[in-house]
Amino acid sequence: MATPSHIAIIMDGNGRWAKSRGKQRLAGHRAGADAVERVLGYCSDAGVKYLTLYAFSTENWKRPAAEVSGLMKLFSAYLKRKLHLFKKKQVRLRVIGRRGDLSPALQKEIARAERETAGFDRQLLLAVSYGGRAEIADAARRIAEDAKAGRLDPADIDEAAFANYLYAPDVPEPELIIRTSGEMRVSNFLLWECAYSEFYITPVLWPDFDRAEFDKALAAYASRERRLGGVEAAPEGAKK
Ligand code: FPP
Repeated sequence: MATPSHIAIIMDGNGRWAKSRGKQRLAGHRAGADAVERVLGYCSDAGVKYLTLYAFSTENWKRPAAEVSGLMKLFSAYLKRKLHLFKKKQVRLRVIGRRGDLSPALQKEIARAERETAGFDRQLLLAVSYGGRAEIADAARRIAEDAKAGRLDPADIDEAAFANYLYAPDVPEPELIIRTSGEMRVSNFLLWECAYSEFYITPVLWPDFDRAEFDKALAAYASRERRLGGVEAAPEGAKK
């Protein structure tokens, strides 16, 4: 069974999960952090090399201040508490997004985790203050700067050259994108990178996402025929 090397997940439904239990939204986010932990284990077992998680979008800053600061505290605590585990399990942590929007303390925490795990092959990419359009706009700005400084000839800008300016240019595009809680939207996630991704959408809320759901997503992926814009592969021995 083909397993994707890179899975990206839109972790949605924490708020609904909390509401259905009469709890505060932050309790849902905390349960979401437990799901993150579990899914890292599933990916490791399945041999998935890259996992990208949509943790906080450029639009999420519009949420109530208490929820935003609660989420930021959760990210910071997560990095502090789990760093030893990333090292033990040999997982490289990276953050993609506009990290300049984050507090200096959180930026420091991220830099430390990135530095101390930089040598590992398996990767967890957390998208924080991330927007797909922001990523493309940031790439365009840096391309313009390089062209202005004479480091880049505009005639050389093609898709491959552009992709070099994305947040994690060395990471292959996700073959599979999972979205929980049933919404049929891409919500500004990996707009460039999702061009040929397969999508798997489940009604399950993120805190309830478990191994059975993960296996279902992998099975759905394995059953898809990925033509990547080409035509169906001819069966063995077919006449030309
Ligand atoms: C979307 O659910 C979820 C978020 C905006 C936050 C995701 C954060 C976590 C899973 C917390 C932990 C993450 C890490 C990396 C430690 P929602 O709040 O929009 O849910 P709703 O649509 O039901 O309201």
